[in-house]
Amino acid sequence: MSLLPLKFYGQPVLRKPAQAINKITPEIKELAAAMLETMNNAHGVGLAAPQVGHPLQLIVMNVGDEDHVLINPKIVRKTGKMTYNEGCLSLPGIFLETQRYGHVVVKARNLKGENVVLEGTDLLGICLQHEIDHLNGVLFVDRVEDRKEVEKSLKKLSSELQKNMWPEIPEPVRETAEAL
Ligand code: CO
Repeated sequence: MSLLPLKFYGQPVLRKPAQAINKITPEIKELAAAMLETMNNAHGVGLAAPQVGHPLQLIVMNVGDEDHVLINPKIVRKTGKMTYNEGCLSLPGIFLETQRYGHVVVKARNLKGENVVLEGTDLLGICLQHEIDHLNGVLFVDRVEDRKEVEKSLKKLSSELQKNMWPEIPEPVRETAEAL
């Protein structure tokens, strides 16, 4: 078991653009495996490397089908619109209706260095958009239209984090949706 400590809202690495990965080293493979473990342990369905303190373009996901590890993922096509009640392991306890594209096509590399294309609607599509946002320093709350609700939620979370009420992800964080 190698669980990684999660970075929470307010930590600068979550706002930093992640660097592209040029070489898939044993360290990158280890990081991906540890991220999958950390995500599953926290009952998340997606996790991006900045959320565990690494500003690298690496995401892992499992939306109930299989484990996905994507390196340098890019959205190459986006169509339609949908809203989803999103959460995030880095913003525990916050779930808000978030505006997203309905369908996305993503190009990336897998751990073998092969080019892969992933197409997603519903939760997979949401997850892809949410995790790729993390690589650009964007958090789901940035995309929520109800700014008053965001402000209120973030204020509450910030004070809880300051009091260190969330030393670990509570079990489970997902009351109304999966955390990404
Ligand atoms: Co997230």
